[in-house]
Amino acid sequence: MYLTREEERLLAGEGGEALRRAMKVLLTIGEMKGAERLIPIASAQVSGVSYKTIGDAGLEFLRDLAESGARVRVPTTLNPAGVPLDSARELGFPEEFIKKQEEILRAYTSMGVIPSCTCTPYYAGNLPRYGEHIAWAESSSVIFANSVIGARTNRESAVSALAAALLGKVPEYGLHLEENRRGSFGVKIKAELKGSTDYAALGYYVGRNYEGIPVFSGASPRGEDLKALGAALATGAISMFHFAGATPGYREEKLERVEVGEAELRSVWEELNTCEDPEVVTIGCPHASLREVLDVIELNPRREVWVFTSRQVKSLLEPGIGNENIKLIADTCMVVAPLEELGIRCIGVTSAKAAFYCANLSKLRVRFDSLENLLREE
Ligand code: F3S
Repeated sequence: MYLTREEERLLAGEGGEALRRAMKVLLTIGEMKGAERLIPIASAQVSGVSYKTIGDAGLEFLRDLAESGARVRVPTTLNPAGVPLDSARELGFPEEFIKKQEEILRAYTSMGVIPSCTCTPYYAGNLPRYGEHIAWAESSSVIFANSVIGARTNRESAVSALAAALLGKVPEYGLHLEENRRGSFGVKIKAELKGSTDYAALGYYVGRNYEGIPVFSGASPRGEDLKALGAALATGAISMFHFAGATPGYREEKLERVEVGEAELRSVWEELNTCEDPEVVTIGCPHASLREVLDVIELNPRREVWVFTSRQVKSLLEPGIGNENIKLIADTCMVVAPLEELGIRCIGVTSAKAAFYCANLSKLRVRFDSLENLLREE
């Protein structure tokens, strides 16, 4: 891989140990993937934030890095943490967990990372331009950035996104290159999609059964539907999609096409549903937009519903929402918060991604259903 004089100096350790290690990480990945050079990025989104997912080993790694004086070089935002920062104790999360989580956030902020704690940085001030190169981790924000915004990022890991943030660069390979961003197969939708949960089921089906860049046609999604579709696609290996008439990079091409109809969607509902009567309904995977929060308020639920969102969206509704059953929770989500430690066993979700990870990571039982169905019951 070609390195500039400055990059060579950093690799030799002249910029300090943190930058030497960051260069080593990017160089190793770049060489493995056949990149020819490093290119500048406009922003980074770093995952590996919740104490539930990174544990003591992750905390120690971040503490060492922060103590070495490492600082990010580009605007860098953070994925959700394991607890809501303003109400963790009030909601009953374990004290030990809260303290470790606070320490993780201190390490990140001392490196100059903005503690946004959301997986929808694009709703919270970190909105890239079309065509801009970025280094984002967190599969749902990566696929949204590539497909809906038209920015360019590979699916970075927690470590490679942080290394990219410290250097302000990434290796140029994969989805940074125009030739790798074209559709690879068509998906003709042969079912009526009534809302974002149906789009999530569609994404889950395609993400679990195919690889490459799907080009969808046959429906008219709103932005939130594309968010749900992308997050579900990314539970598999897909990091970009096109949607005819809805995404900016779409070009009509002759592609081999698969059809997805009612039977395929039904198979997803059957796979993801493992309980009927959730103790709590949770919305916001990925974090809810203002419009999604308003959708919940409009249904005036009579059962408890937790809406996970960014602090920015939450602040727009700060004066109050007039329904005590709705809890607006920022900084965390139903997957990375230790909900199982609060005694929850069966959880209601509208997101296929949340359904998959609540079952597999948190060992919760799941009711995957539309918002209307989940909130209809008392
Ligand atoms: Fe975001 Fe948590 Fe879902 S990080 S995409 S709300 S699993």
